[in-house]
Amino acid sequence: MSKPFDIDLGSLTGHAPPIGVVPSHLVEPGNRGTFFLETFGCQMNDHDSEKVAGVLLSRGYQQVESPEAAGLILYNTCSIREKAAQKVFSRLGEYRERQGEGKVIGVLGCVAQQEGEDIFERAPWVSLVCGSASYRKLPELIAQLEAGSQRVTGLETDTDETFETEMTRRDNPWRAYLTIIEGCDKACSYCVVPYTRGPERSRASGAILREVRQLAELGYSEVQLLGQTVNSYADPTPGKMRFAELLLAVAGVPGIRRVRFTTSHPSDFTRDIVEAIETETKICDHVHLPVQSGSTKVLRAMQRTYSREEYLAKIAMIRGAKRPIAITTDIIVGFPGESEPEFEETLSLLEEVKYDSLFSFKYSPRPNTPSLKMPDAIPEEEKSRRLALLQEKQREIQTARNGSLVGKTFEVLVSGKSRKENQWSGYTSSHRVVNFASREQELLGTYIQVRVTSATPNSLVGEHAV
Ligand code: 5AD
Ligand code: SF4
Repeated sequence: MSKPFDIDLGSLTGHAPPIGVVPSHLVEPGNRGTFFLETFGCQMNDHDSEKVAGVLLSRGYQQVESPEAAGLILYNTCSIREKAAQKVFSRLGEYRERQGEGKVIGVLGCVAQQEGEDIFERAPWVSLVCGSASYRKLPELIAQLEAGSQRVTGLETDTDETFETEMTRRDNPWRAYLTIIEGCDKACSYCVVPYTRGPERSRASGAILREVRQLAELGYSEVQLLGQTVNSYADPTPGKMRFAELLLAVAGVPGIRRVRFTTSHPSDFTRDIVEAIETETKICDHVHLPVQSGSTKVLRAMQRTYSREEYLAKIAMIRGAKRPIAITTDIIVGFPGESEPEFEETLSLLEEVKYDSLFSFKYSPRPNTPSLKMPDAIPEEEKSRRLALLQEKQREIQTARNGSLVGKTFEVLVSGKSRKENQWSGYTSSHRVVNFASREQELLGTYIQVRVTSATPNSLVGEHAV
């Protein structure tokens, strides 16, 4: 799988030991009141983990960096593809014995929502199963366990409880994730999200803006608005702020220097979003616009609600903007019935769009989804062959695209310091990773100009331009 710009998400999300985690050697093993939280999956899950951590920390729990040191072991899970779901069960298997030591093991997130109480059958050492809409209830659920309940669940999907909590504990000191829309009302035939995250619910624009102001006061300069279909945002309040207006309003909050948003659905991608990016440079020049396939026939079978031509019209609209906008995408190869010529249409779409980066996946049949029952499954080896071809083509495209940026200067938000002396890393507005040299001592969290000196398919190399 290739990653948009090879982002070091580890350092930006919950995958690296987050700030404020108590090192293992300082905690009594199995200490009650301590939790270990591992996150699988997408940015929405990373952000959900920040909410879970916040809820528990506010109740006096301490976060620790190993399951051994924790009284409560939590897995925030992903079920988008089978492999991700399997990983959760194998991880759970590793902690089977721990239950005997009095530890509580809990499954959160999409696998929890999807499998529900069946998890207790498959992994009887699990005693807590809780989906994303019920995280506010976690302390209550844990208290029930401490009071003697054997098994507890929180599995509602259509509550408004999923949005930010006052306690959300963010892992990155500069970039704040903010959920503005939860769930999904689309019905892509391969996708579990409508089942695991429930129907679409948008958060009130006033509440979003209030929170952005608070985030800015806390020192965050970049806000990333999140939603499975973020641009389907429908303000539930009388002002009915449109998504593009919301982007502009967020960008207008004093202290905010960058606004990102992900993931956009092509059908709801309107011209006013492009215009907002054109007029307000604080709105990042990057759009993640999953296409999934370059074949109209496959798109129909996927129930994606647009044709190849309609998608390309959206691309033309974005490419026509007054300032260049990076475009990234998601692609699924080997959807049931995808013929060789249909796959080649995806390759030709890559040639035509010249994406700045993409995530690519082999189709994975998922429970409850309409495509599960579709005939003409593509053999695994064939899916692998198509994936490799696709990634090779994209590598060529990225090599050329990044190569064309050599000599240019970009503003970079510095977010990493290398162990190597004078080496730093950060992101451009278009979300490219830049590794660069600077003799400055304190750059983390600052915005600086970097001149690109060379490029790889996944990142840029540069030097601090003073
Ligand atoms: N099989 C493979 N990839 C999938 N995705 C979603 N469901 C599946 C599935 N069943 C991919 C889509 C989506 C991304 C988040 O995951 O490309 O955009
Ligand atoms: Fe899944 Fe489609 Fe909704 Fe995206 S838009 S979350 S792929 S159902």
